[in-house]
Amino acid sequence: MNEILIKNTTLVQVREPNISILKGESLRKLPILENAWIRCQGDRILDFGTMDSCPSDDGQVIDAKGRFVFPSWCDSHTHLVFAAYREQEFVQRISGMSYAEIAAKGGGILNSARRLRAMSEDELFEAAHQRLEQLIKSGTGAIEIKSGYGLSAEGELKMLRVIKRLKAVSPIPIKASFLGAHALPAAYKEDRKGYMDLLINELLPVIAEEQLADYIDIFCEKGFFSVAEAERMMEAGNKHGLRAKIHTNQFNSMGGIEAAVAHKALSVDHLEVVNEAEISALANSDVIPTLLPSAPFFLQDHYPPARQLIEAGLPLCLASDFNPGTSPSGKMAFVVALACIKMKMLPEEAINAATFNGAAALELENDFGSITKGKKANLFITKPMPSIAYIPYGFTEEIVDQVVINGQLLSKLSV
Ligand code: NIG
Ligand code: FE
Repeated sequence: MNEILIKNTTLVQVREPNISILKGESLRKLPILENAWIRCQGDRILDFGTMDSCPSDDGQVIDAKGRFVFPSWCDSHTHLVFAAYREQEFVQRISGMSYAEIAAKGGGILNSARRLRAMSEDELFEAAHQRLEQLIKSGTGAIEIKSGYGLSAEGELKMLRVIKRLKAVSPIPIKASFLGAHALPAAYKEDRKGYMDLLINELLPVIAEEQLADYIDIFCEKGFFSVAEAERMMEAGNKHGLRAKIHTNQFNSMGGIEAAVAHKALSVDHLEVVNEAEISALANSDVIPTLLPSAPFFLQDHYPPARQLIEAGLPLCLASDFNPGTSPSGKMAFVVALACIKMKMLPEEAINAATFNGAAALELENDFGSITKGKKANLFITKPMPSIAYIPYGFTEEIVDQVVINGQLLSKLSV
């Protein structure tokens, strides 16, 4: 059986099994084991300890002096499958147009949908597979991917089938979310209900039958979908066993959070705009607030009030929102840097939110998100660096040096 021993290192996010999601004060504690070793056997973490108890060197040994070993990032919100980047809209925004104005003129998500329609399933798969490879190299070890650029029965199924193919070849776990209600397609401009009926009555049963999705999502926002539509979608998803992870409160506070709480959603994602009542609703629920700071960074918008959410005792999660419109990057180290620089999260809080709580927002916390005996050996080894605070501090630095996935060094894996 494959064995790796990493020695003379500092282990980050060392946890006992079966701990619950990190909130409030506990988000601030990031357990570290210095002068340590860790041994992986097969695809799991077998054991770890301090160097005075280091086992003898048989099998593959990595001397990681001056380096840190982290559990892989768990990225619980991405739109990794898309046809093309949208740098022309980026230029339009620099020239003064807003994201909403571009969307209202048929750009934005509708632009991505047109491009996706013109691309074959194989091409789409290849492009997404390459992006996935890059993300794994940058330290991501578990990921969620959404549909939502199909916006027709055919297009949405094409996207979800691409995600299913990615799941089959990916060395890291992938969770799929059905985001048919991402934008109203032009063909249904005068028939909102018709589009919702199509998604719910025709598509969802096929998706459930073919097991094409794990979660249901909807973009609950002015100009996109209403709270009533979000409620209907979450209810329909729940009937098919799909819990909700919804986009809400990106630009407006409309009641999406309360609806998500009522429907026992797994997470509410974005929250750039959030009020006291919504924060209390979250505090009285198990819904995970997921912040995506790359989006307000890229849109030059304002950031979610992370400190206020932490002080309310909430279990914050951080994710990349990798997509061609609002976050054309899936680099989780940069997300951690933004969380610290722009939202005043402490490095410990940001790392907890991007690892352990990210795993919880993927319902993978029993196997991912921390250095725990028996968990999957999905780890990364950093370049030499002085402390964990160097990750957000050195915000353009590529800190990931080596990646271990399923107990194997990435260079030995064919992804
Ligand atoms: O999470 N806000 C909705 N969806 C994406 C953006 C999608 C796009 O512009 O292509 C987001 O930011
Ligand atoms: Fe998103």
